[in-house]
Amino acid sequence: MLPASFWMRQRGGYDVSLRIERCQKRDVDLRNGTSHPSLCLTKKVVMAIIKKSPAEIEAMKEAGRLSAAVLREIGARCKPGVTTLELDEFAEDYIRSHGGIPTFKWYGGYPGTICASINEQIVHGIPSSNVKLKPGDIISIDTGATVDGWAGDNAWTYAVGSVSPDVKRLLEVTEKSMWAGISAARAGNRLGDIGHAVSSVARKAGFGVVRDYTGHGIGRDMHEDPLVPNYGLKHTGVKLEVGMVLAIEPMITMGTHKTRIMNDGWLVVTQDGKPSAHFEKTVAITQDGPVLVSTEPDRDRPL
Ligand code: MF3
Ligand code: CO
Repeated sequence: MLPASFWMRQRGGYDVSLRIERCQKRDVDLRNGTSHPSLCLTKKVVMAIIKKSPAEIEAMKEAGRLSAAVLREIGARCKPGVTTLELDEFAEDYIRSHGGIPTFKWYGGYPGTICASINEQIVHGIPSSNVKLKPGDIISIDTGATVDGWAGDNAWTYAVGSVSPDVKRLLEVTEKSMWAGISAARAGNRLGDIGHAVSSVARKAGFGVVRDYTGHGIGRDMHEDPLVPNYGLKHTGVKLEVGMVLAIEPMITMGTHKTRIMNDGWLVVTQDGKPSAHFEKTVAITQDGPVLVSTEPDRDRPL
């Protein structure tokens, strides 16, 4: 997931909302969900979405498959007593021994192969030998694998032992919101349709939708244009086209959607300490609709 400040670092000082407004008449201000039809009249498009050919999408599926396989393997290892560093070491071995490179490792200085974020931790939990899973925890795991130069990215939140009914519902709703976003990833729709689909599911359930971090385009780089917010207005934003590949990744909270970054400069938590869940898949927009890229074809449930 991308912090809104990502573009300011990468592209030298664009405010993220201005950047989007420059791209498209009537787009969504990422900070407050309003549209600004008037601000884009004189500015040039600065967004560079790299579309992929059918052959490139097929190549991306290998990275996607490996990132999904290692995520599934880790999910099966999320048991009481296991440390997140043990999960990380397993993941690095698994990815390398299957012909991949851990995509996250040293990305922007990030030291892990996976992100492991427990309970009120939203994203970017750095694996540690001091963090041991307990019954009743939930753990959001992100895995990324690069194969033949293509990045695959996905995430899932697992329950450790049995969790409270409320927490169980948080996981179900967050996953459902991801599938809703994926179904909206169709040529002819707009970016805002994805965010609207995600946030409608979450809000109907009474949950918060994290706004400070978003999904993203993905290809040879893990983070490409466009930002893919988990909220938006229907029929607004960049037009979705065949060949775009997006990582759709709702981060949904039991309480406030407001976030805080901890002292290690990575870990993002909810401001109120209530739990948060995170599900992510890489999806290609094709003539036949959305196609999962970070998936094990014979294992994932169909769209
Ligand atoms: N799945 C995350 C993302 O979508 C992983 C990024 S962790 C990082 O961006 F450290 F590599 F940035
Ligand atoms: Co991502």
